[in-house]
Amino acid sequence: LYIGVDLGTSSVKLLLMDEEGNIKSIVTREYELYFPKPGWSEQNPEDWYSALVDGIRELTKDCDKSQFDGISFSGQMHGMVILDEKDQVIRPAILWNDGRTQAECDYLNNEIGREKISSYTANMALTGFTAPKLLWVRKHEPDNFAKIKKVMLPKDYIAYRLSGIHCTDVSDASGMLLFDVKNKRWSKEMLDICGLKEEQMAKIHESYQVVGTLKKEVAQELGLPEQVKVIAGGGDQAVAAVGTGTVGEGKCNVSLGTSGVVFISTKEFAVDKNNSLHAFAHADGKYHFMGVMLSAAASNKWWMDEIIGTKEYAKEQQDIKTLGENNVFFLPYLMGERTPHNNPNARGTFIGMTMDTTRADMTQAVLEGVAFALRDSFEITKSLGVDISRIRINGGGAKSPLWCKIIANVLNVKVDKINSEEGPAFGAAILAAVGCGKYTSVEEATSKLIKVIETTEQDPEIVARYNKKYDIFKQLYPTLKDMYD
Ligand code: XUL
Repeated sequence: LYIGVDLGTSSVKLLLMDEEGNIKSIVTREYELYFPKPGWSEQNPEDWYSALVDGIRELTKDCDKSQFDGISFSGQMHGMVILDEKDQVIRPAILWNDGRTQAECDYLNNEIGREKISSYTANMALTGFTAPKLLWVRKHEPDNFAKIKKVMLPKDYIAYRLSGIHCTDVSDASGMLLFDVKNKRWSKEMLDICGLKEEQMAKIHESYQVVGTLKKEVAQELGLPEQVKVIAGGGDQAVAAVGTGTVGEGKCNVSLGTSGVVFISTKEFAVDKNNSLHAFAHADGKYHFMGVMLSAAASNKWWMDEIIGTKEYAKEQQDIKTLGENNVFFLPYLMGERTPHNNPNARGTFIGMTMDTTRADMTQAVLEGVAFALRDSFEITKSLGVDISRIRINGGGAKSPLWCKIIANVLNVKVDKINSEEGPAFGAAILAAVGCGKYTSVEEATSKLIKVIETTEQDPEIVARYNKKYDIFKQLYPTLKDMYD
C-alpha cells in the first residue's frame, strides 16, 4: 500500500493506493490560513504536521499495517519554512500566495537584472518565490535570519518530520529561485545574493527517489512499520501532472485549484526568453513549463461563498445556457496576478454590466474570466512553438462540466477527463509506488494507471465567439493597470 499526501493551502489530503493502483480511500484535514496584513499569507508548519498525523491514523485504521510500503508528497510550492539549529521552526511559513516581496523582486529583476537571475535559475523573481522571501526576512527580521540553519519547503518539512532527513526534490526546488534548474543543483550565485550557504539547503533528489524511512518514534505514533519508505515527492503542479499522466513531450494539464495552472511537460530543458512562463524540473525526471494564475477556483469560491452566499455551485451554473455571448467580463486578480502580469497589486474587476445583467451572467463571467486568464498563459506557450490540441484537467473546478466546456472553447482544445480526479494526491501515491520499485519509471506508471474516460470537444461557433471576447479581455488589464498601482 502507498500513501499519497497532498499538502495544500487549505487542507492536507491523504490518499491510499493499493498495489494495482486502485484508490482505496481518501481523508482530508483542514488547517488555518492566516492573512496578518493585506497581501500577506502565512501558515504554521506544526498545523500541517498535526493534520497529517491525525489524517494518516484515520486513513490507515482498518488496514493491515504490515502492507504499507511507501509515502510520498505533493506540496504547495514556494513556501518558506526556516529552521534553527535545533530544527525548530523560527517563524510562521510565508506562503506561495504572499505578496509582500515586491521590493525584493524589484531588486533582483531590476538591480541585479532579470537576465542574470534567469541565467542562474532559468526564471525571474516573482513575489511568490522563496528567495525574495528570504531577502525580506534578512531585511525585516534580521534576528530570525541569523538563526537559519535550514531552509525548507512545506512538503519537505513534513518529510523531515517523518524521516528526520532534510531533503527536497528537483520540481519543488525549482520554485525557490535558488536552484539551477538546468543542471539540477543549488545556484551558488543565488545563494550568495541571498546571504546563504549550501549547508543551509536541503539535499536534492529526483521526485521519485527514496530519501529514507520513518523515524522510530514517528512509526510508533502512526502505528506503521519503520521500514515504510519516504519518497521525496514534488511541487503540487508537477505531481498533479503525474496524477493526470502529463509526462513526456508536449503534454498539457490545466489545473483549476485555488490557483490555476497551464502545465506543459517537455523532455529537454528550455527557457522562454521573456521568462513569462516558469521553466522548472518535472517530477518525471525531465522538465516543464508553466503559467500560474493566482485565483482560479478561488475566484469562483469567493463569488459563490462571499458574494452570492451559496454552497450550491452546480445549481448556480444551471441557468447558464449560451456560451460566448456574455457582455460581462471579470478580471480574476483577487490576489494580484502572476502569469502574465506579475503584479501583486492587480485586483479583481467586473466590467460591462447593464440593467438586464443577471446573477447568472455574473457567475458566467467569473468562470469565463478564469478561462481567459488561462488563455493568456496558453498564448505564450503557443508563441514558443508548442502546439497543443488537447489537454487534461484537474482540481476542484474540473468537477464542473460547464467550466470544462468553457475552457475547451476558450482555449480551442479537446479536454480529456481521466479515470481519477485526485491529481496531486494520486500523483504522490504514484511517486511512492515508483520509489518503492513497483514501476521502473513515472512514465511507465502513468501509462499503466491513467486512462481517458471522456472528452469534451470544442464547438467551432463558440470558439469563434470566444476569440472575439478574448480580444476584448486582453485589452482590459493594460487599460486598468495604472488604476491598480
Ligand atoms: C505553483 C503555485 C501554486 C502553489 C499552491 O507555482 O504557486 O500551485 O504551489 O498550490
